[in-house]
Amino acid sequence: MYTLIDGKQTAADIRREIADKVASMRKRGFAVPHLAAVLVGDDPSSRTYVSNKVKDCEEVGFRSTLVTYGNDVPEDILLAKIEEFNSDSSIDGFIVQLPLPDHIKETKVIEAIDPSKDADGFHPVNLGRMMIGLEGFLPATPYGIMELIKRYRIETRGKNCVVIGRSNIVGRPVSILLSGKGVDATVTVVHSRTANIPDVLREADIIIAALGSPGFVKAEMVKEGAVVIDVGTTRVEAPGTKSGFRLSGDVDFESVAPKCSFITPVPGGVGPMTRVSLLKNTLFAAQNRKQG
Ligand code: GUN
Repeated sequence: MYTLIDGKQTAADIRREIADKVASMRKRGFAVPHLAAVLVGDDPSSRTYVSNKVKDCEEVGFRSTLVTYGNDVPEDILLAKIEEFNSDSSIDGFIVQLPLPDHIKETKVIEAIDPSKDADGFHPVNLGRMMIGLEGFLPATPYGIMELIKRYRIETRGKNCVVIGRSNIVGRPVSILLSGKGVDATVTVVHSRTANIPDVLREADIIIAALGSPGFVKAEMVKEGAVVIDVGTTRVEAPGTKSGFRLSGDVDFESVAPKCSFITPVPGGVGPMTRVSLLKNTLFAAQNRKQG
């Protein structure tokens, strides 16, 4: 029998912990943490993500600011807004929701963010700090995954861990964290050019699926007793539901779950943890501000 990793409940527990800290800051006369977000365009997933992030801020007592632009906003207008946020001392941290329209260079936008306000942990300075094990902002999804592993006391030392996907925001950073000192996993990253992914997966004690392909991981690719963390959240059509779609993970849950020791559901696994990581990064930024 497998243990279902309940990201929704874990994230709710963490929000409570954060809310307590915010209440204590407020009582001591400090400004509450302030997170700002920039949303460009009308991608429905991005809109949902950002509105959920704002909702989370309200729940824990943070201040939040949302700035939205149309799909055709010129790059220099977006960069000017980032400059404004960088120099606004009332804002502790901010994010620019990705992906951005094709005419805007994502790396340029990320590099324009002041690393001390980079609540997403995407700036090269913060990724570099993570790489060498220094304290700082961690990318939200990898941070959320590590927190689930910690809170569910999943053994990682010396374990064979296979990460599927090499994105800058999930696959690559989580592979660094898993192989770090104290976590001590042996990590393999597989991607679209890897020969024979199923054979590699069958050797895995821990699988992190972050490729964005619904149901990619099937039972025959998974070893008995494996831990499976599903990062996929692809919208697939679901006629008859209110919204007309449902979220599908990268793992074929029905067939894979019975072989697992631990598995995350989609939705309700990694997703809520990603959101809560952003709050943790913002709190971290605000605490640094408090210390001057
Ligand atoms: N797009 C998908 N995930 C993320 C995230 O964690 N942060 C931002 N800014 N954009 C995303």
